[in-house]
Amino acid sequence: MNRRNFIKNTCTACLSVTAISSLVSSCTPTKYISGSVVKDGITVNKDEFKIKQKGGTAYSSFIIVRNDILQYPICIYRLNDNEYSALWMKCTHQGAELQASGDVLQCPAHGSEFNNKGIVTNGPASADLRTFPVAVTKEEIFIDLRKQS
Ligand code: FES
Repeated sequence: MNRRNFIKNTCTACLSVTAISSLVSSCTPTKYISGSVVKDGITVNKDEFKIKQKGGTAYSSFIIVRNDILQYPICIYRLNDNEYSALWMKCTHQGAELQASGDVLQCPAHGSEFNNKGIVTNGPASADLRTFPVAVTKEEIFIDLRKQS
C-alpha cells in the first residue's frame, strides 16, 4: 500500500467511526423521568443518564424531568460527571415550552435557541433561561427549587 492509499483508507475509517458515533448519539431517544420530590427540590439518580451499549456504558447529554409539581419541565444537562445544569424549559420570549435537541433547547413557536447552560444563542428571545442550583453527590443530583436565577 502506498502512502496516498494509506492516508485515504485511514481518513475514511476515521470519518466512518465519527459518523457512526454521531448517528448513535443523535438516535438516542429523549428520556423523561419524574425524579423524586423531596423537601425543597427534586432528586435524580445519576444512573438515569447511563445508556447501556454493546461494549460499554455511554451517557445521555440530557434528561427531562416532568413532574406534576412543575408547571414546565426541567432539562438537566450532564456537562461532566460532577457538573450538571438544570434549565426551566419555558421560553423567555413568550413562554412556549422548549424542545431539547442535543445540546440545544429550541423553541417551536418562533425559533429561539438556548445552549446547555441556558444562555440564549438565537432570538427573538433576549433573556437567558431560568436555571436552578444543582448539588451533585456521588450518586444523586439535587435540583434546588427554592432558588432560581
Ligand atoms: S415563544 Fe419562544 S421564541 Fe417566541
